[in-house]
Amino acid sequence: MIAIGCDHAGFELKEDVKKHLVERGLDYKDFGCNSTSSVDYPEFGKKVAKSVVSGECEKGIIICGTGIGISISANKVKGARAALCGDCFSAEATRLHNDANILAMGARVTGPGLAMKIVDTFLDTPFSGEERHQRRIDMIEG
Ligand code: RB5
Repeated sequence: MIAIGCDHAGFELKEDVKKHLVERGLDYKDFGCNSTSSVDYPEFGKKVAKSVVSGECEKGIIICGTGIGISISANKVKGARAALCGDCFSAEATRLHNDANILAMGARVTGPGLAMKIVDTFLDTPFSGEERHQRRIDMIEG
C-alpha cells in the first residue's frame, strides 16, 4: 500500500500518480487534499509520514508546488525519510543509499512524464542493505 498526499499545488499531479499506480496494479491510500483549493502542506506531509512510519503503508508519495515544504514537514515525523527528487538518478540513489521511505516531488518543477519515471524508479529500487549505508541511516535517528 502506497500512502499519497499533496497540497493544492500538487493536486493535479497526485491524480496523475494515482492513475499510474492503478495501471501498475498498486494499491494506494489517499490522505488528500482533494481539490485545488488552498490548503496547508504540513498537514498532508505529516499524515503520509505517520502512515508510513506506523507501518500502515509501505512507502509514501507527497507532492506540493516545489516539493520542499511538504518534504520538510514529513521529515519532522520520527522515522520518516522523505527525499525530494526531480530526477531518476536521485530517486534511485535515495533508495539505494538512504532507504528513503517517502518520495517528494514538486508539481511546479517536474512535469508529469518525468514524475511517473521518478515514481517507478523510487518504487522499483531496493535498499542496497550495505553496512555503511545502514550505519548512516541509523545515525540520522541518533
Ligand atoms: C503553495 O503555494 C506552495 O507554497 C507549496 O505548494 C509549496 O511549494 C511549499 O513548499
